[in-house]
Amino acid sequence: MPRQSRREAEAMSTAALNVIRARTGSDVEISAAIVLGSGLGALGALLADKTVIPYDDLEGFPGRGAAGEGVSGHGSDLLIGRLGTRSIAILTGREHYYQHGHAAAMRPALETMAELGAKTLLLTNSAGSLVADLPPGELMMIADHINYAGMNPLIGEPTDRRFVNMVDCYDPGLRALAKSVAGRLGIVISEGIYLWYSGPSFETVAEIQMAIRLGADAVGMSTAPEVIIARMLGLRVWACSSITNMGAGLSDETISHEHTKMMAALGADKFKRLIPALVEAL
Ligand code: HPA
Repeated sequence: MPRQSRREAEAMSTAALNVIRARTGSDVEISAAIVLGSGLGALGALLADKTVIPYDDLEGFPGRGAAGEGVSGHGSDLLIGRLGTRSIAILTGREHYYQHGHAAAMRPALETMAELGAKTLLLTNSAGSLVADLPPGELMMIADHINYAGMNPLIGEPTDRRFVNMVDCYDPGLRALAKSVAGRLGIVISEGIYLWYSGPSFETVAEIQMAIRLGADAVGMSTAPEVIIARMLGLRVWACSSITNMGAGLSDETISHEHTKMMAALGADKFKRLIPALVEAL
């Protein structure tokens, strides 16, 4: 069941927009927004002329509401500033379906990004790998996803906007651009299919075997609902997983949130080099 009606969601994003305009100067316009996954917060330090707005001040943003506690390893600020020559926003943490069973949790924040002028949404996350040649520490651009959580953030959207075409929802042009930027920087980046698993428990060994048979290359607990919302809003989407572990049963390591946060540092270093160059090339 949606946590808020569409009108309420719109009112939330308008209220958030007013706060952002007041804190940054009324004519702020961004070209892209970036969502940072677990342990990937380092990117925020690269922003120049930065305005930091705690999510607590922004209605509808992650971490607000009755059940909306944050997730360790995730930031809780909206950053607006300049990355190179581009004006962008960074969402330093996200809200997950597993926090309260609300798949549209990121909708007000993403609507606010679109209202600020963003045309492009760059999403990062941590994920478990399902394939031997994608070990921890590697980056995998998401080429497509499988919505295994089975929940859709547009349930409850009353207009025909809900019938979103998901073909090429991970923009092929952005993937090609990121590949060439990564090549220039000497960063190895592959492409694959991401399976959205609700969490918060990690997958069983049998579920990982199922995900492999379904054709997935990585599993994670986020991103797919944000992509569905973003496509409804007309944003071009690029998403990339930082591989923190092999899926359950595929290696001897013990999977845990602590391990995920620790291993995310490897991906964070690569994102810190890749994303500014990608944003500049947009
Ligand atoms: N499964 C689901 N989500 C994850 C994993 C995983 O193995 N690693 C990091 N996020």
